[in-house]
Amino acid sequence: MIGIVLGTRPEIIKMSPVIRECERRGLDYYIIHTGQHYSYEMDRVFFEELDLPDPDYSLDVGSGTHAGQTAKIMTGVEDILAKEPPEIVLVQGDTNTVMAGALAASKLHVRVGHIEAGLRSFNRQMPEEINRVLTDHISDYLFAPTERSRENLLTEGISDRRICVTGNTVVDAVYQNLDISRRKVNVLKDLDLEPQEYFLVTAHRQENVDNRARLKEILKGLAGVQKEFSLPVVFPVHPRTEKRIKELGIGVDGLNLTKPFGFLEFLQLEAQAKLVLTDSGGVQEETCVLGVPCATMRYDTERPETLDVGSNILVGTDSGKILEGVRSATTSPRGWENPYGDGIAGKMIVMVCAAARPQ
Ligand code: UD1
Ligand code: UDP
Repeated sequence: MIGIVLGTRPEIIKMSPVIRECERRGLDYYIIHTGQHYSYEMDRVFFEELDLPDPDYSLDVGSGTHAGQTAKIMTGVEDILAKEPPEIVLVQGDTNTVMAGALAASKLHVRVGHIEAGLRSFNRQMPEEINRVLTDHISDYLFAPTERSRENLLTEGISDRRICVTGNTVVDAVYQNLDISRRKVNVLKDLDLEPQEYFLVTAHRQENVDNRARLKEILKGLAGVQKEFSLPVVFPVHPRTEKRIKELGIGVDGLNLTKPFGFLEFLQLEAQAKLVLTDSGGVQEETCVLGVPCATMRYDTERPETLDVGSNILVGTDSGKILEGVRSATTSPRGWENPYGDGIAGKMIVMVCAAARPQ
């Protein structure tokens, strides 16, 4: 029995190849949805579009402070694991759901498999960095996407026997859904966009959007990009960011703000953009896989592989630097190699779990 714990948009998307593989192999598994994300466009839409089974358990924890949310997830997951103990619990990524799910499981002596283990920004100001480090150190199976992430784990003293380099399940998710997205959605036409003739933006990092000065600079930088290139800047706004923009009453002139898109729509928008500006982890990876240049509005990244291959540059959050970065990234060569594997990470992870001996 495998227990899959998830709760946010990127976890649903990146766990989908694992869920599909469990289904294909007819394995015994169940899904616990913590409810960290709950708005239709941050949650349900992905179950519908990716044709995923409904969660077996929904904790409905909702939003809250870090400690409050973590505590609610831990007690909710603990109750379920105590009633229906699985052989292994799988978590993916670096959210509060991941850390709380892993901690609850490990305290009950249920083995934990961490998918996307070993990523490090080396910036402890990010809540995600704390979650990653803690989760890695209490996990029994560390599914590292690249050799570089494996090295990070070894450096921290984690035994090589617990690490398996699988590639990132984001590649599986892109490969499994790109064709479907081409057939099923026509979002460019709906938004009156031409391929290669628009920019796509996402921004939701706490350290960016909860900081008034930074958020203002980012929006100013984006407006500058729109003006200089005279191209639409499409910005599906994460609920955290929407709340901050409203609270601060900041102007968003020149930007095409929308609700968050479903994955099929967003994949199309990414694949055909001139360039993507983001502070998202998953979007840095997806653009790299899709061959689309990315400018990351941060000062560090736990995805250095994207910098190494040249798909991504760090432009920070200063408006002038954002514009400068976009100028240079739009003219630099494409055609890099995807460092995140060949789209079989989900299969490898499930194979390892299925082969694991009972404790
Ligand atoms: C969380 C993760 C972050 C991840 C992101 C993916 C942590 C610490 N953060 O950040 O690592 O990159 O998810 O998108 O786990 N809200 C809604 N509807 C929702 C969800 C949130 O309106 O479905 C609003 C609420 O006002 C909430 C705010 O967004 O307070 C932030 O949500 P939260 O889950 O706390 O953090 P994210 O910024 O989404
Ligand atoms: N995404 C989406 N619709 C959007 C914006 C993003 O489906 O409007 C997807 C994107 O393709 C990627 C994931 O959401 O797979 C990234 O999630 P997010 O940026 O919220 O979190 P992070 O990856 O930073 O943890």
